[in-house]
Formats: sequence, structure tokens, C-alpha cells
Amino acid sequence: MSASLLKVAGLKKAYGAIQAVGGVSFEVMPGEIFGVIGPNGSGKTTLFNSMLGQITPDAGTIELKGEDVSKLGPLELSRRGVGRTFQTLQVFGKMSVRDNLIVAAQEHRGTMLGRMFSKDDLSLGDKADALIKQFRIEHVAQLKAGTLSYGQQKLVDIAMAFMSEPDLVLLDEPCAGVNPSLVGGISSLLKDLNQNPKFGKKSSFVVIEHNMDFVMDLCHRIMVMVEGQVMAIGTPAEIRANKQVLDAYLGA
Ligand SMILES: Nc1ncnc2c1ncn2[C@@H]1O[C@H](COP(=O)(O)OP(=O)(O)OP(=O)(O)O)[C@@H](O)[C@H]1O
Ligand SMILES: [Mg+2]
Repeated sequence: MSASLLKVAGLKKAYGAIQAVGGVSFEVMPGEIFGVIGPNGSGKTTLFNSMLGQITPDAGTIELKGEDVSKLGPLELSRRGVGRTFQTLQVFGKMSVRDNLIVAAQEHRGTMLGRMFSKDDLSLGDKADALIKQFRIEHVAQLKAGTLSYGQQKLVDIAMAFMSEPDLVLLDEPCAGVNPSLVGGISSLLKDLNQNPKFGKKSSFVVIEHNMDFVMDLCHRIMVMVEGQVMAIGTPAEIRANKQVLDAYLGA
């Protein structure tokens, strides 16, 4: 059994003639922040969707904490500690920020009846309040999420993923469309969540992002994808110095 938190091996997904993900393998260690970079259309989101049971890969295996989870769907994966944020916002605009967080956690609780009688639900409000504080969004907690700026909604979206006490969170472009002045804040927030776990659990992250300064500063290791293939995996310094990566992506 491997000591890795996540182990992806030989993952493949084609759409017709397009090999969106063409045999991708990598491991994420407990406590690690793992970046995924690459040009538009290089297969990053398809990789996430395959890892999350959102789409069925054509080949490959996914292990979580040494267990094969390749055949599991999104709900079962979330119950096993995998959270995610999407490339596009998933907040409920007409609901308050605080209620968005509570509903996000309830999604993991199964049936409506189960939720109604779950003793744990008593703590969901406390959990939401703790995250609201950590994300420094107390001043907007009671506002309808749809009235916030895009950047603030993005923060709410990220906070929602943490309500289920995940071991592993997959973030698809957390900085996309966010005002550059807020990007540093998202980075320090993710570092804080990684180093000072909120509910007694240390989270690892896999982060897709085009903002290179953000990725290089935040991630412990980075994987470069080009045309569905892994071009390189290494520390930020190694990736920066990789000639092939510079030519294919960073140098552009
Ligand atoms: N549902 C789909 N049907 C057909 N082709 C798809 C589908 N989803 C993705 N693709 C194709 O697969 C390839 C990889 O797309 P993907 O969205 O995974 O890239 P990405 O690296 O996330 O890009 P971006 O940085 O623009 O978000 C692209 O050529 C894309 O057009
Ligand atoms: Mg994408």
C-alpha cells in the first residue's frame, strides 16, 4: 500500500477523436498542495471530472488512501473526503452566504429524512460561522450570495467545499475572473487552510490555475499537462527551470 493520499495511474478519457486525457499518472501526498498547469484544452478539467466520478474514464485507476475508488460516483467520493470547486461558480445567488455553506454540507448527508434527524446538523451553523470567520467574510454572511462581487462569491464557493471536512480538495481555477488584488488573499487563505486545519483535519489540495505567480507561490509540487499528457512534475523551481515546459507553456 502506498503512503500517498491520492494515486492516479494511467488515466485516459477521449471525446471522439480528441484524447482529452491521454494516460496521466501522479501522486499527491498527505498535506501536499499540488498544482496542475497547462494551456487551454490540455485536459486539466477533464482530469478533475474523471477523478471525481463526474465522468467515466476510459482507462486508469484512482486510489484514495490506498483504496481503489475508480468506480465511485461524486457523492460517495465526497463522503470519503474529496471536495471540489468548479471552474464556474456554483453558489445559490438567492440564498445568504451562511445558508449556502450550510446547504453545501447537507448535500453530503444523504436523504432528506437523514438530514432532518441528523444530530450533526446542530453543528453546521457553528461550522459555517467558523469558516466565515476564517475566510474573513463576516460582513457579508447574511447577504444574498448573488449580491456579492465575483471575487467574494469565489471565496464563498471555496468555503463551501470545506464544509464537508475534506481530506482532499480539488480546486479548478480558484483565481479565474477574480480581481488581481484579491488573488494574494486567496493564496494566503489556502495556505492557512492547509497548515491550520479548521476541524481537526489537515487538507491537501490539487489546484488547477493559469495564474503562474499564484501557482508558483502556493504549490509544493506542480504537474504540467500538454495535450492530455504529463510533460513534467516537480517543485516550482524545477518547473521554472524546465526547458521543455518553458518552450511549450511558460515561455509563451
Ligand atoms: N464534454 C466534452 N465533449 C467534447 N469534448 C470535450 C468535452 N470536455 C472537454 N472536451 C475537450 O477535451 C479537451 C480538454 O478539455 P478540458 O476542459 O479538460 O481542458 P482544460 O485544460 O481544463 O482547459 P482550460 O484551461 O481552458 O479550462 C479540449 O479539447 C476540449 O475541447
Ligand atoms: Mg478547465
